[in-house]
Amino acid sequence: MEDIVVVDNLHKTYGKNVIAVDGISFTVKKGEIFGFLGPNGAGKSTTIKILTTLLEKTSGKATIDGLDIDADQVKVRRIIGYSSQEVGVDDDLTARENLMLQCSFHHIPTEKAKAKVNGLLQTIRLSEAADRRLKTFSGGMRKRLDLASSLVSDPKILFLDEPTTGLDPQSRQDIWEYIVKLNREGMTIFLTTQYMEEADRLANRLCIVDQGKIVAEGTPAELKAQVGADKITLRFKIDDHEGCEKAKELLSKLQGIEAVGKCGDGIAAENGLTIITKNGSGLVTQVVRALDGAGINVEQLNLSAPTLDEVFLKLTGKTLNVVERKQTTGGWGRRRR
Ligand SMILES: Nc1ncnc2c1ncn2[C@@H]1O[C@H](COP(=O)(O)OP(=O)(O)OP(=O)(O)O)[C@@H](O)[C@H]1O
Ligand SMILES: [Mg+2]
Repeated sequence: MEDIVVVDNLHKTYGKNVIAVDGISFTVKKGEIFGFLGPNGAGKSTTIKILTTLLEKTSGKATIDGLDIDADQVKVRRIIGYSSQEVGVDDDLTARENLMLQCSFHHIPTEKAKAKVNGLLQTIRLSEAADRRLKTFSGGMRKRLDLASSLVSDPKILFLDEPTTGLDPQSRQDIWEYIVKLNREGMTIFLTTQYMEEADRLANRLCIVDQGKIVAEGTPAELKAQVGADKITLRFKIDDHEGCEKAKELLSKLQGIEAVGKCGDGIAAENGLTIITKNGSGLVTQVVRALDGAGINVEQLNLSAPTLDEVFLKLTGKTLNVVERKQTTGGWGRRRR
């Protein structure tokens, strides 16, 4: 597939010595959802601001759909949409007014703008609240409106900086579905996130970033495969030590099992086994069959795959600690171009 974003050895230093982006290179393919996953201060917003031409890079090169972010700045702005980390809609205006304002920034004629705004309000399910001032909106409603306002220009590629940070699970789910819908309709999406689940669920491919550097790149499955192993956990009745022993002996003989260990030795309530394997989902049925065949009762069975958090932990020695932040409201002027 054709590359729509090509970033080559990008650097950004704030002032004399704050190195925010430290020589990153990556490509985004046309039509994909590309994720930029990393903790606070990793350089995600800096990168996205450079690519959307809102911030000057220190060195390196980047093109969007073949256009150079410096030499072709005006053309780049015409084909991108950007939703910043801070909600950029105006509290004193209604939802409809906010979107109409965005349309006027993009020189869309009034009649066409009205139709477009109605369509967008419908898609983000804000038609009924369209004429209410944003002051009365919830965080999720604002974020949806903010996303819609980055779409008025029908961008080829949409840049979303932490689209769901600070949202409740239902609002997060809404935004996810909307992003997927836009992507199905053909839009390339570049999103940053500090939620590994978000990257895992949405991104076709992703980069894991830390301290201005890319520490890993690939599909979620490829990255998780680097960690290697799935875990199957079995629990037996509290006093069924015999069943647990028998199961251990039996399962050790199954093909594809790397290790069978007792969990929580010495703690009765933890009377169970942990199985490490490369192919957890394939093995679960075999495990169940073997135990059933031997008449061993299992109280609980869990299969867990490695998560992107474990990938991050393995690569950086740290865990992706998400610090929940409240949504802040920024001025609407930032999108005026
Ligand atoms: N305007 C600025 N002036 C000086 N330093 C800055 C500025 N903006 C960001 N930084 C620093 O650059 C580094 C990267 O910041 P950036 O905002 O790009 O990270 P981020 O990955 O978006 O983090 P977050 O998840 O918190 O949004 C941080 O160390 C930050 O403190
Ligand atoms: Mg940021």
